Amino acid sequence: MCPDLSYPVLILSTTILAIESSCDETSAAICTDGKILSNIIASQKIHEQYGGVVPELASRAHIQHIVPVVDQALSNAGLTLSSVGAIAFTHSPGLIGSLLVGSQFAKSIALALDIPLIAVHHMQAHVLANLIDDPKPEFPFLCLTVSGGHTQIVLCESPMKMQVIGETIDDAAGEAFDKSAKLLGLPYPGGPLVDKYARLGNPEKYPFPEPRVPGLDFSFSGLKTSILYFLQEHAKNQPQFIEHNLPDICASIQHRIVSILLNKLIKASIRTGIRDVCIAGGVSANSGLRQAMLETGKNHHWNTFIPAFEYCTDNAAMVAISGYYKFQAGAFAPLSISASARAEW
Ligand code: KG4
Ligand code: ZN
Repeated sequence: MCPDLSYPVLILSTTILAIESSCDETSAAICTDGKILSNIIASQKIHEQYGGVVPELASRAHIQHIVPVVDQALSNAGLTLSSVGAIAFTHSPGLIGSLLVGSQFAKSIALALDIPLIAVHHMQAHVLANLIDDPKPEFPFLCLTVSGGHTQIVLCESPMKMQVIGETIDDAAGEAFDKSAKLLGLPYPGGPLVDKYARLGNPEKYPFPEPRVPGLDFSFSGLKTSILYFLQEHAKNQPQFIEHNLPDICASIQHRIVSILLNKLIKASIRTGIRDVCIAGGVSANSGLRQAMLETGKNHHWNTFIPAFEYCTDNAAMVAISGYYKFQAGAFAPLSISASARAEW
């Protein structure tokens, strides 16, 4: 495999403070020379009662959490703000109000300490979560990035050179989990609950259809509709159908979402000839996907990489490791940079 020469071989030493605030987790991490020293995540429980993230409430909660979360990250790393040599933050994509809290905080610290500012793309950071722990994938690698808002197959040539080679044409995989959970009467976010019940059920019990989408793209909206009709049909004769069959229904839904994801990942590996294959994003915390990924990797002779749980859902450690590579490349952002809800790759 060719060595990746897009960032310098000379390693510059520094401590990076990283901030993640793109959605409903406020997170701060400390990274020295590519090693994560702390990663603090404050989740916002307030959204549960509304059945989804309320952007205005998310922004306000970030304002409340950001200082204590940063203090805790510094203290867990045994450092003070004066030892921080650069600050990285999630610049895009995400909820604009949430992003603005993190970006303004990061810019203020950069200005006050006169240190470099590093802007990080949230979805690229999910991919680079695979570079936090050893063993690490070799470039070029493939990453299936599955979160609440995105489902992508990314071809990663270097820490700063990635391209999306397949993505969802409608719902994201996380949405498929959360919307299915809602149909089952489970609270938001339903993905982890579907996972929990699925462990007790039979994944072959209800064979939901696999959509036919050309190429490396995904579609989940048809699955959601078929689950809705399936539940309505059964409820006609058996009003308590869901209560009596919850584990089997969850296992069958999860089984289908996972098979849709992995069939495309297999296709991408065959098409590109790349065998270092990773997963990332909140849905990569799913036990069924993690297990199936290991089995698929074995069958297809992949080198398979799965981030630790704390680096799957939104976290600042992935922003810190992205910041580390950008720091090495001298890829700094101006203080005039503005956060962006949507982002180009
Ligand atoms: O990456 P993430 O934390 O935030 C975004 O960037 O969107 O992903 C959140 C998504 C939610 O849809 C959530 O339900 C899903 O990840 N998720 C899971 C599990 N843990 C989180 N889905 C299935 N099984 C899980 N264990
Ligand atoms: Zn995310």
